[in-house]
Order: sequence, then structure tokens, then C-alpha cells
Amino acid sequence: MTRRPASVRIVATGGTIAGAAPSPRDTSGYRAGALPAAALLADLPLQDDIRLDARQLASLDSKDALPELWQMLARELAQAQSDPGVDGVVLTHGTDTLEETAWFLHLTLALAKPLVITGAMRPATAISADGPMNLLQAVQVAACPWAARHGVVAVLNGRVHHARHLRKAHTHRVDAFDSGEAGAAGFVQDGYVGWLSPPRRRPLRFPPDTPLAPVDILFDYPGISTSMVDAVLRAGARGLVWAGYGNGSISGRIEPLLREAGRRGLAIVRATRTGAGRVAHPGTGDFIQAAGLDPYKARIALMLALGAGTPPAALQALFDTLSYE
Ligand code: SIN
Repeated sequence: MTRRPASVRIVATGGTIAGAAPSPRDTSGYRAGALPAAALLADLPLQDDIRLDARQLASLDSKDALPELWQMLARELAQAQSDPGVDGVVLTHGTDTLEETAWFLHLTLALAKPLVITGAMRPATAISADGPMNLLQAVQVAACPWAARHGVVAVLNGRVHHARHLRKAHTHRVDAFDSGEAGAAGFVQDGYVGWLSPPRRRPLRFPPDTPLAPVDILFDYPGISTSMVDAVLRAGARGLVWAGYGNGSISGRIEPLLREAGRRGLAIVRATRTGAGRVAHPGTGDFIQAAGLDPYKARIALMLALGAGTPPAALQALFDTLSYE
């Protein structure tokens, strides 16, 4: 019996993978999102067992991506999940906020089919552009049904990363992404997809149409102005992620202000600015601990949790669970 080719849908949103510069020498000073999806697919050396179709949803530099884009993508991608003509989806995205979009989608989509996100560090017009190989390998992972068990994954520079651990860790190297201490989830080479970690458990998910509560992030630093907390309150935030020192420590001048803001209803999550490690529970009931989530992932979790009406008493358990998503 001959199997029909796998149908992979490309959903394009812009980014450097679709970037164009005046000269092939330029790897900065280009316009992100300048090329349409069709241009990225034109010369892709696909095998016969994969078919592609493409949709252009945005043509953005991802620094300008807003939470509304995440929600729009979640709606579009939920539809692709239920489309019998689609076996897997690749989302092309700018690398600057790729980790946020991947984590939001991971928290909101039930995946029966692979959802792979990719981007590039060099514009499409550069010599040795990394986009074509990233896109080809992302398509190969999206055509592998097993990938759906890992939740949303990113494919960049030959490695597969779980949305839970993915982070951009370099400003310009082609090898800009990693998964921190967790390590990559897998790799892809010449169409072979190898998994280095077990599938994700994904015990918790929010509906894609969950309203998003306004949540800000503040980073601690020596001499931080006390007016920062006021600014967050004045802006109408319902939550704040405090990216503190070490194990989430808060400058002594700021801590009473945060406790007072907490009493007035602001949900405050203590995370760490160190870039790695878990924020442990020191037994203070006033703050929620981010556990293993970095400040950016903690913010999205809190936006969803507050938007979904999660009771304050349930927030710590939610962060503990999401840490292991
Ligand atoms: C962007 O995030 O859209 C621009 C930067 C990139 O894709 O590398």
C-alpha cells in the first residue's frame, strides 16, 4: 500500500526568515517580514512524500507581536488541528519573541498533530541564510506524527526544543537558541528526527479564547526606583512578575511596596533574573513563586491564569504544575 504524502501547512508571520537586506553581505540592517511565504517555499528541496500549502497571517518584525497576535494564531492553529487535510503545521516567526509565542500556543492548544515553530537569524537574502534549512527541517518534524506528543516544539539549527524550555540566548549567532539545563528535546538531520527526551505530560491547558489579563515584568537592580511599582499599578496591571536576584530576592526598599500592592489585589509572582534555576518556596504567603518558569514564561502563565479567573489560592499549584509542563 502506498501512503499518501504528508500535508504540512505553513503559517507565515514574518520575521528574519522572511527578511530582505540591500546586499547578500548584510546580516543586520534588513527588513524583517519583507518576503511572502511563497518566496520562502519556492526553492525548498522537499521530498516527494511531503506536500505543502501556505497561509500568510502577518508580515511582522516579532518585536511588534502583541498578545492579540498569539490569540489570532491560536484560533487559526486550532482550526488547522481539526482540518482532516492537514497532518502537521509549521509556523514561521521572528526569533525575537518566538519563545513567547511558542509557550502561549503550548499552553492553549490541544495537539493531535505536530505544531512546529521556526525562524532564522540571517535574512533570506544573506549568503548562507539559515532560514531554508530551518524551514526544511521544521517541515520534516511537522510530518512526523510523534512530534505532537511533545506539545509545541521549535526547530532551529538542527535541534528540536520543547516550548517549555526554549529561549533565545544569543543576539546574532545562527545557533542562538537553547533549552537551558534541560537540553534539546531532539535533533533533525537529513530528514531523520531523533528524540532525546520523553514526550511532555501537558496536564494543564487553557482554552485558546481565554482572555489575557494585563501583567507586567519588573527586573530588580541595585538602586531601582520605588516609583516602578507605582507605575505598574497606575497602568492597570492585574499581575506583576518580579524578576528578582538569585532565588527571586527583592530589594529591601521594594519588598514592603510589593506586599502592599499584593494586599490591594495585584498578583505577584517571584521569578529570577539569573536565567536558570528554580525559585523555591520560602514559606511567605504574599507572593507566588515562579518555580522553574523564567520571567517571560511566568508572565504568560499569569496572564492566562488571571484571565481564566483562577482563584488566588490556586495560583501556586498552577505554577508548580506548569513548571513541569
Ligand atoms: C524578528 O523577531 O522578527 C526579527 C528578528 C529575527 O527574526 O531574528
